[in-house]
Amino acid sequence: MTQSRKTTLRLKDAPEAPASEKPTARQRTGARARQAARQALARQAAAGSGSASAPVASAPTGPTRPATQATVRQRPATGRPVPARRDRPATAVQQHRPAHVQDTFKAFAPCPQGLEHSLAQELQGLGLAAVTAGRAGCHFEARWQDLLRANLHSRLATRILMQVAQAPVHTEDDILSLARATPWEHWFGPEHSLRVDTSAIHSPMRSLQYCNLRAKDGICDRLREREGARPDIDTVRPDARVHLFLDAHQATLYIDLSGESLFKRGWRLDKGAAPLRENLAAGLLILSGWPGDAPLLDPFCGSGTVLIEAAWMALGVPPGIWRPFAFERLRNHDHRLWRDLKDDARSHIMTRLEQPMVGADHDPAAIEAARANLQRAHLAPDSIRFEVCDVREVLPPADRGWIVTNPPYGERLGVADADALWAGWSRWLKQHYAGWQLNIISDDMGLPGRLRLKARRRHPLYNGALECRLFQFDLNPDAYRAERPQNHTA
Ligand SMILES: C[S@@+](CC[C@H](N)C(=O)[O-])C[C@H]1O[C@@H](n2cnc3c(N)ncnc32)[C@H](O)[C@@H]1O
Repeated sequence: MTQSRKTTLRLKDAPEAPASEKPTARQRTGARARQAARQALARQAAAGSGSASAPVASAPTGPTRPATQATVRQRPATGRPVPARRDRPATAVQQHRPAHVQDTFKAFAPCPQGLEHSLAQELQGLGLAAVTAGRAGCHFEARWQDLLRANLHSRLATRILMQVAQAPVHTEDDILSLARATPWEHWFGPEHSLRVDTSAIHSPMRSLQYCNLRAKDGICDRLREREGARPDIDTVRPDARVHLFLDAHQATLYIDLSGESLFKRGWRLDKGAAPLRENLAAGLLILSGWPGDAPLLDPFCGSGTVLIEAAWMALGVPPGIWRPFAFERLRNHDHRLWRDLKDDARSHIMTRLEQPMVGADHDPAAIEAARANLQRAHLAPDSIRFEVCDVREVLPPADRGWIVTNPPYGERLGVADADALWAGWSRWLKQHYAGWQLNIISDDMGLPGRLRLKARRRHPLYNGALECRLFQFDLNPDAYRAERPQNHTA
């Protein structure tokens, strides 16, 4: 790879509003855009570095009883008269005034473990109240429109759950009673399909499957009593999703406002070998302190997740602008409010930034997938340069910058290959990348030793179920460890 000059970032197609949703505000370009990007990223970086300077999630400790999950399965046809969805009268829907949308709701936003404090800062930045970081997520309070904004703007949350009921429970029947007493008809009814999920930490209940069934029965009983029919169960593409969470003493019922996980931004087609989830990629960028207008390199880029996420962050593209949400299917969805929120978000998107963003991977298929994803993410082909190249030959695209990367983990590499890779890359980094910030997520706790580098920080976080660290290095001679002596044979 040759030394590059400055690359121009261009958002090829700004997210278009449907004909009925004409964007009203102008888009920023040029110097003002760059300044706004720097300010936005500085805020995000401040959120990240703030959490980086204090131990974030203390090393995650597993619960004595692991969180478990159960899902209601499709029930066989019962022969009960359930009105066909299209035939059902609209009157039931119309008689519910959207008074509930003026309330303040308690809510919970799950996120990858290790990003809780960064998420708390992100939610505070969105103006949400009473934000507290918990285990693998944050509690907060919000008005209805702020719950929609959180869905649209959060880069770190996995979903947004709105609390609708909470009470102490001792038996499975208490769950039935709680579900029956909850006013589901404000949100959905027999014209919707339903899915219920249950998770628990330290719950004394014996069967989560049965708890799940009780919650579902309570919901269906209530709707049948009030509206003459119950929702169908659809575990694949439900209109309404309810989460039951059980802890040692109580049950909490949530309506899932997101639907598909928020890390699904809507652009991924080519998955690559082991793609990072987009919200974890955003978390790595925030924790790395990348300021948004600095050169960025991912030399193990795979399908391009880190760089595409970075481009959206730098341009201020709201991560939810192109995807659907579960709340859009609920009763009394306020189309005008949602359109206004999206119009406002669109007005802050920048179309042009200037900084080199470079991805490399030795696998041509991965680079092909990254380029396809770039296009699907509405980014111009030249906004991120993707190249087929071995990591030990990737030259820096600028004198200073950030590497944020997710190399292959131990079990994917043979030991001999791994030794050669880390030793060779270490020499290459020391030779060519003085002055760069190196950020690597890995489950290999011995990685700094293998790279002969001293880590400035090791941030605990989880990639799915895998316990990892984000290792952070300043690439300067103070961080270099002596090379291991070579083995000599006589
Ligand atoms: C864990 S995957 C990265 C996934 C990526 N973050 C994504 O979201 O798609 C690691 C990548 O490193 C690449 N890789 C492995 N050895 C390499 C080498 N020596 N030089 C360059 N790339 C390499 C693999 O082809 C693979 O795509």
